Amino acid sequence: MITHRPRRNRKSQVIRDLVQENTLSVNDFIFPLFLIEGKNKKTEVGSMPGICRLSPDLMLKEIEACMKLGIKTFDIFPSLDDRYKDKKATESTNKKGLYLRTIAEIKKKLPEAVIMTDIAMDPYSSDGHDGLVKNGEIVNDETLKILGRMAVAQAECGADILGPSDMMDGRVGYIRAALDEAGFTNVSIMSYTAKYASGFYGPFRDALDSAPRFGDKKTYQMNPANSKEALLEAQLDFAEGADFLMVKPAMSYLDIIRLLNDHFELPIAAYNVSGEYAMVKAAAAKGWIDGDKVRDEVLLSMKRAGASVILSYFAKEWALAHNK
Ligand code: PBG
Repeated sequence: MITHRPRRNRKSQVIRDLVQENTLSVNDFIFPLFLIEGKNKKTEVGSMPGICRLSPDLMLKEIEACMKLGIKTFDIFPSLDDRYKDKKATESTNKKGLYLRTIAEIKKKLPEAVIMTDIAMDPYSSDGHDGLVKNGEIVNDETLKILGRMAVAQAECGADILGPSDMMDGRVGYIRAALDEAGFTNVSIMSYTAKYASGFYGPFRDALDSAPRFGDKKTYQMNPANSKEALLEAQLDFAEGADFLMVKPAMSYLDIIRLLNDHFELPIAAYNVSGEYAMVKAAAAKGWIDGDKVRDEVLLSMKRAGASVILSYFAKEWALAHNK
């Protein structure tokens, strides 16, 4: 006799729905968007089918359209012309520059949209690194000053959540102090807590033309072989006042999402990065997998691992497919 027959709980769609443990909702998503200068301009990222760099006017329209689908949070990344890049990422605090001007405009016209920003030097750096380069080295403490100024400038433009993505030591505490001192005690920090030195960022760097001009990012981003280091980073970010802990990439790091979720009383975010999106799209285009099915499975696996927030280029597509 067989006492337990787990198949009984799979015998019909209704029973399967009854016992389902995890579900995705449109509320879980943050949609990353790429910003370019110009008017009525839209250029597709070659390695990310369906994802376009948008000029400010079209980005406003895109945000409005997504909000109608129920997506309310957007993470905006700027793609800048080389002439705006220098060693010190000066453009990152220019209020008249593309990024800050557009964030202020979005918050003015669509105040109910939650805007997340990126804090790192790479989109503005002539070295293409997230930190300040001195004699070929990425220097930590001098970078913090630049990040602090960037954070306050973004908060002044109305950003709701700041995303330090640079992996410098001490940056969450430094940014928190700078924000509080400037009166921005309500601005949140979603720390890129465990950000690995990953091959999965390739399409993103194509989108922004932000690849490092020399070397790699291994002296600041984490070694994919390590998980204890993720716990250490999380302890520091927790102690320094982060509001969310992010794991990036997501698909190959579901164990890290689980680890942080088990150990920290903060919401965990998963960044389903550009290369993960590209892989699904490429295989689907070849007819090798069912893209819609794999998309939903990949996103659900992040939820099951313990993420309560998912940053994904699939956000709009998911919302359209599931109609809320
Ligand atoms: C850079 C940054 C990167 C991503 C987000 N912020 C790339 C990098 O570290 O080189 C990657 C996102 C993606 O691949 O979707 N500060």
